[in-house]
Amino acid sequence: MFLAKRISDLRAFQKQHPGTWGLVPTMGALHEGHLSLVKRARDENNFVAVSVYVNPTQFAGGGDFDKYPRTLERDMDLMKPFQVDLVFAPSNEEMYPPNFQTYVTVEEITKPLEGAMRPGHFRGVATIVTKLFNIVQPDRAYFGQKDAQQVAVIQQMVRDLNLPVEIVVGETMREADGLAMSSRNVYLSAEDRNAAPILYRALCAARDAYLRGERDGASLRPVMREVLEQEPRANVEYVSAADPLTLQELDEIKNGVLLSMAVRFGTTRLIDNLLL
Ligand code: PAF
Repeated sequence: MFLAKRISDLRAFQKQHPGTWGLVPTMGALHEGHLSLVKRARDENNFVAVSVYVNPTQFAGGGDFDKYPRTLERDMDLMKPFQVDLVFAPSNEEMYPPNFQTYVTVEEITKPLEGAMRPGHFRGVATIVTKLFNIVQPDRAYFGQKDAQQVAVIQQMVRDLNLPVEIVVGETMREADGLAMSSRNVYLSAEDRNAAPILYRALCAARDAYLRGERDGASLRPVMREVLEQEPRANVEYVSAADPLTLQELDEIKNGVLLSMAVRFGTTRLIDNLLL
């Protein structure tokens, strides 16, 4: 496993390793969700690169950038069993040198949901992902369904800009009690960790209603909200039943629905979704 901190080192390594490349972009603090993407990348490509970079431009208004866990040594230990070929862990100076001034903006699809709550977030994501695609030039790139809007934004960007990369989406990995795995779960207090599976229960309640034949988004959203309101520690930011492609809120559901939500427990913000 080669650790490249500089783009020039990465390029020199890749030159010596011609073949198909899979890229798993991460911000580190790896968990089973990331590792399932790494495993899939390993199965589907000659070579696997994992980027580990906490990207400052996607932390709207600072967010939790400073306290975001940085655990490169542990992350590399976790990757070892999956025979990752290349770890790219650049500095901020390497990614955003002085006088950096070019950003990628995806328009409509970034406006609702996470985009509304975290202005500027997807501009940062689209910019860093474009840079990583240009730096690594992977054949395939792997993202988790847990960040459903991020996936939709990246797919939109790849289509719009004709980027020569296949986007592969891995299913959300969950703890035994249903909580979606996330690097941010470590911030939860013991009480909030106990309460946090309420997100999945709310999603499942709406899914069950959908499976019983409910096709009205205006009825599914209150189903999720009512479950969440049973948990006093949960502060709901939004619940959504949206079109999976445009992310616009749906009333009549004809071609599937993305159920999603953002909920705060203290200062920790959790998101989750189900795609039906
Ligand atoms: O999902 C993440 O961890 C980040 O948004 C990504 C895709 C690595 C870009 O910084």
